[in-house]
Amino acid sequence: MTKSGKLQVIASRIARCKECKAGKSGLPVPGEGNPDADIVFLGEAPGKNEAATGRPFIGRSGQLLRKHIREAGLTEEDVYITSPVKYLPDRGTPTKQDIRHGKIHLSEQLAVINPKIIVLLGATAVYAMLERTEPIMKSHGTIIKEGERTYFITLHPAAVIRFPKYAPLMRQDFEKLASLIS
Ligand code: URA
Repeated sequence: MTKSGKLQVIASRIARCKECKAGKSGLPVPGEGNPDADIVFLGEAPGKNEAATGRPFIGRSGQLLRKHIREAGLTEEDVYITSPVKYLPDRGTPTKQDIRHGKIHLSEQLAVINPKIIVLLGATAVYAMLERTEPIMKSHGTIIKEGERTYFITLHPAAVIRFPKYAPLMRQDFEKLASLIS
């Protein structure tokens, strides 16, 4: 089966998964992009726009993320964009259990895509992949190698929208990311 076919099988499992849906609403948002992507961007959980359409990062945060992706010299078709939590949490923020459960599906997706680098957008993505909390304001812009995977930590775009003073930090991180991949 092609990588794209394997990702579709995982997406249909997510669409049927009762545990994923518990305490959440809207359409499943499995992720989208290139099944052969060298870079995966990992967020937190879908917001209202994403839950209404089934597409990741299409709201305000998504526009900011996608702008940075383009400015890093990539196209949205080159990368894969997803989140550890696949449905909109009723309370807005996912619980640790939501993140731990979502990781089951996420790990399957990553095993298919096998990216060279996983960009962790904020604390939820860090918790999902590294299973620990990291002070993002200290660890952003750093590369972490763990097991077979390479991670790059940066801010979640929603944090930058909320606190515009962080915008230069995200810009610098993406410049660094651009130099890493060129
Ligand atoms: N924020 C996320 O973390 N993921 C999305 O898909 C949308 C907003």
